[in-house]
Amino acid sequence: MAFLEMIDIVKRFPGVLANDHVNLAVEQGEIHAVMGENGAGKSTLMAILYGLHAPDEGYIRLDGKTEIFRSPIDAIERGVGMVHQSFKLFESLTVWENIVYRREPRRGLFIDAKAAQRQVAELAARYGLPIDPIARVGTLPVGVRQRLEILKALYRHARILILDEPTAVLTPGEAVSLFEVIRNLAVNGCTVLLVTHKLNEVMAVSDRITVLRDGKVTDRLVTAETNPTEIVRAMTGRNVLLQVGKTARPAGEIRLEVKHLVVDGRNRRAVDDVSFALRSGEILGIAGVAGNGQSELVEAIVGLWPTDGGAILVDGKDVTALPIAGRRDAGMSYIAEDRSRTASAGTASAMDNLALGFHRRRPIAVHGLLNLREMRGWARTLIRKFDIRIAGETTPVGTLSGGNLQKIVIARELAHDAPVLIAEQPTRGVDVGAIEFIHAELVAERDRGHAILLVSAELSEIMALSDRIIVMFEGRIVASLTRAEADEATLGLYMAGGRKEAA
Ligand SMILES: Nc1ncnc2c1ncn2[C@@H]1O[C@H](COP(=O)(O)OP(=O)(O)O)[C@@H](O)[C@H]1O
Ligand SMILES: [Mg+2]
Repeated sequence: MAFLEMIDIVKRFPGVLANDHVNLAVEQGEIHAVMGENGAGKSTLMAILYGLHAPDEGYIRLDGKTEIFRSPIDAIERGVGMVHQSFKLFESLTVWENIVYRREPRRGLFIDAKAAQRQVAELAARYGLPIDPIARVGTLPVGVRQRLEILKALYRHARILILDEPTAVLTPGEAVSLFEVIRNLAVNGCTVLLVTHKLNEVMAVSDRITVLRDGKVTDRLVTAETNPTEIVRAMTGRNVLLQVGKTARPAGEIRLEVKHLVVDGRNRRAVDDVSFALRSGEILGIAGVAGNGQSELVEAIVGLWPTDGGAILVDGKDVTALPIAGRRDAGMSYIAEDRSRTASAGTASAMDNLALGFHRRRPIAVHGLLNLREMRGWARTLIRKFDIRIAGETTPVGTLSGGNLQKIVIARELAHDAPVLIAEQPTRGVDVGAIEFIHAELVAERDRGHAILLVSAELSEIMALSDRIIVMFEGRIVASLTRAEADEATLGLYMAGGRKEAA
């Protein structure tokens, strides 16, 4: 009998069987990865383990005792802790105050601050989690806040720690330190459940892997005895090419030029004197940790956000003062990061969504009137070409999975045949199979001589697709590298704000 078992767990949501008789067995001190594509049921399973959801069927056995956790309070009581993706911390309080919150050591009626600080320092030292107990949380970088969440769980005597997609918010350097922390926890007897869809992380840090697909366990693997291809097959049910096929080709003339661009964000300078040129037949990747000005840069380029200085040129024409439609006419198309709000209309049909932006052009519009037959044929063609899984062209797109909705957006934007494509997080939240397809489409677009600006928080995506890479940090370009110069360590250093010493 394993230390921790989840037995025959079933969880239904309206219309979805999120966990379908899932069995999970984890040994004490093990780092166990839970893998699967988006929607596979990973977070649901972990929510059941942490008492956030009650299972419809099945139960948990921990240390030989049968349990069903009715709430996180029950789970914490039995030593289960969870680090959430969006941290639940008090920003204006200090590190130690956050950690001991509601379990403060007391001296008579008062909180014993000295004792609390000492306990936090001891805990941090024991698990190798360096942190300053008296720092204000509001001043700390994300990686340190995450460390604080882990300490908070340990202070509550967690023996099992659940981390759900913990590296999504981290720089590569921070991710490496997190893995060290995780290994340290395991050495100290703590059991770690690591939820992720990133293969390199699983290969680097886990002992064993449970793979979910469509709510069911499809494989149980020992990390040392498996490989990424086998894991992806278990995740997707088929063979997926992990490498993008891409040949070197010379870049052509400049299609998009950004000169000394300045954008003031909501409460700070978001883009600070950014200049670059994007050429025909080239994919230029913008790397950076989310929140370093990439979104504002893209919004300014496509016309969703005003600029506060500098210029944007498409094929030599200054479009800085033009509205969105004017920029599209100048030859720009845009795959927006937020596919369900900016890039599509959920209650509208696939047909309407695929025609957006074409509704003033022939053959879809003639003399200001929409030609419904053309629209329908157009939608059917794109649905077939992009293998979009949808009941029909009149089905509203709001019901589609992330991958299929993203294919609608990409089909429409590529159909514009615009010389400049701005692709913002083009595969976020999309499953491995759709990623492969989207990457191949972007490379084909480049090979047709189009110019692509790729903004992505996934370093592996930037590395797989880009011909050149620039790194943004705090609104500025801190590095501009050829693909050959850009290895993960170098990029990681720049993404963390490390400057010229290395270059
Ligand atoms: N609170 C909820 N209400 C309804 N459906 C949900 C809820 N949480 C998850 N689901 C659905 O359950 C399935 C599994 O989701 P989830 O466990 O979040 O997957 P993963 O973490 O592997 O991406 C998905 O189809 C998702 O839409
Ligand atoms: Mg999840």
